[in-house]
This record gives sequence, structure tokens and C-alpha cells, in this order.
Amino acid sequence: MKKIIALVAMVAFLGLAVVAFATPAGPAGDIKIVKAKGAEKKPVVTFSHVKHAVAVPDCKVCHHTWNGEGTPKMCSECHAAKKNGKKLDSKNAAHKTCRGCHRDMKKDGKKTGPTPCKGCHKK
Ligand code: HEC
Ligand code: HEC
Ligand code: HEC
Ligand code: HEC
Repeated sequence: MKKIIALVAMVAFLGLAVVAFATPAGPAGDIKIVKAKGAEKKPVVTFSHVKHAVAVPDCKVCHHTWNGEGTPKMCSECHAAKKNGKKLDSKNAAHKTCRGCHRDMKKDGKKTGPTPCKGCHKK
């Protein structure tokens, strides 16, 4: 019996390990969001990726063009200082995603991130 339990535990552990490796993890610590060239008026935004990956489990809410493989591209690789066709400028892309979510959650009375400028653009 003990052997069977040990075997079951081992298989479960291996299964978890496989899942852990198959799911790409985001950065563990705080990261600085890369600015688009030519849009550099405000202080850089430091962002706890790990808190967001827990609070917002669907990576594609933010990495909306990512197919789930490899490393998602920086927002500023597509969203430049100026709007380009359908692609919003970097400021509005970030504000719509980041501030938009915080504002909506706040309206619903939930614990969320900041909406005032200085809450994100900290000196
Ligand atoms: C709330 C928004 C948000 C969510 C949710 C999110 N990310 Fe991110 N992630 C970002 C931002 C913003 C950056 C920095 C991008 C930049 O500087 O343009 C980033 C960066 C990354 C990077 C580093 C890219 C590099 O080249 O250094 C990886 C890897 C990553 N995310 C993976 C993930 C994965 C996997 C998930 C889901 C488990 C996830 N992210 C969920 C917003 C998010
Ligand atoms: C590979 C290129 C690419 C990357 C990387 C990218 N975007 Fe976009 N984004 C686009 C394109 C193209 C559009 C316009 C068409 C669409 O909605 O898909 C867009 C549209 C948007 C919109 C407007 C959607 C709407 O509802 O009107 C927002 C907001 C946005 N992006 C935010 C972000 C953020 C934040 C990041 C980084 C976490 C990011 N994008 C990364 C290409 C990209
Ligand atoms: C879909 C919802 C959602 C999106 C999108 C989102 N956030 Fe948040 N944010 C949250 C929630 C929920 C918290 C509170 C998390 C916590 O305290 O554990 C938070 C907390 C924060 C905080 C304060 C906590 C900390 O230490 O970092 C900052 C700063 C922040 N967000 C910045 C951003 C930025 C910048 C973006 C866009 C790249 C963004 N958020 C996108 C939901 C979101
Ligand atoms: C929830 C976080 C958040 C809040 C709140 C926020 N921003 Fe931003 N903002 C960002 C992110 C992320 C970017 C894209 C990265 C960057 O350019 O620094 C950005 C970009 C910008 C840019 C373009 C880049 C630059 O430095 O010129 C300006 C200007 C800006 N924000 C002004 C403001 C102002 C003014 C407010 C208050 C009314 C504000 N932001 C509130 C997250 C935020």
C-alpha cells in the first residue's frame, strides 16, 4: 500500500513538474516598462509582474498579440510614440490596458492598482 501511495505521489509530482515547465512564466521581480522612443516625458513605470500574473491569470489580457510560445514582445515594439494605423500610440495603449482595468475594478469596489499619474509614473 505504501508503495502505491508513493508511486501515486511521484506521478502527481512529475505531472506538476511537466505543467510547470510547459507554462512559460513571466518575470519574477519588478520590471521597468520599456518606453517608446520619443515618448519619454514621464518617469518610467515600475511594475510588479508577479502580482499581476496572479491577479490577472490570462496573459493575453495584456500580451494581446502573443500566441503563448516564446517571449512576448514589448508593447513599445508595436506601439510607437505616434499612432500608426490601428496601432495606438504607446501612451494610449498602456493607459487603456493598465488604467482602464484599475478604473473598472475600482468602480466595482475591488482591490486594484492606482489610477492617478503618480501611482504609476513614480520619480
Ligand atoms: C497586467 C498585464 C500583464 C499580464 C497579465 C501579464 N503580463 Fe507579461 N508583461 C507585461 C508588461 C507590461 C511587460 C513589460 C513589457 C514592456 O516593457 O513593454 C511584460 C513582460 C513580460 C515578459 C518579459 C519580456 C522580456 O522580453 O523581458 C515575459 C516573459 C512575460 N511578460 C510573460 C507573461 C506571462 C507568461 C504571463 C501570463 C502568466 C504574463 N506575462 C501576464 C504585462 C503583463
Ligand atoms: C506584435 C505587435 C503588438 C504588441 C507586442 C502589442 N500590441 Fe497592442 N495592438 C497591436 C495592433 C496591431 C493593434 C490594433 C488591432 C488590434 O486591436 O489587434 C493593437 C491594439 C491595442 C489596443 C487597443 C485595443 C482596443 O480595444 O481598441 C490596446 C489597448 C493595446 N494594443 C495595448 C497593448 C499593450 C498594453 C501591449 C503590451 C503589453 C501591447 N498592446 C502589445 C499590436 C501589438
Ligand atoms: C486586468 C486588470 C489589470 C491590468 C490590465 C493591469 N493591472 Fe495593475 N493591478 C491590478 C490589480 C488587481 C492590482 C492589485 C494587485 C495586488 O495588490 O496584489 C494591481 C496593482 C498595480 C500596481 C500597484 C501594485 C504594485 O506593487 O505594482 C501598479 C503600480 C500597477 N498595478 C500598474 C499596472 C500597469 C503599469 C499595468 C499595465 C502594464 C497594469 N497595472 C495593468 C489589475 C490590473
Ligand atoms: C496604471 C498606470 C498608469 C497611470 C495611472 C498613468 N500612466 Fe501614463 N503610462 C503608463 C505606462 C505603462 C506607459 C507606457 C510606458 C511609458 O511610456 O512610460 C505610460 C505612458 C505615458 C506617457 C507617454 C510616455 C512619456 O513619458 O512621455 C505619458 C505622457 C503619460 N503616460 C502620462 C500620464 C499622465 C499625465 C497620467 C495621469 C493623468 C498617467 N500617465 C497615468 C502607466 C500609467
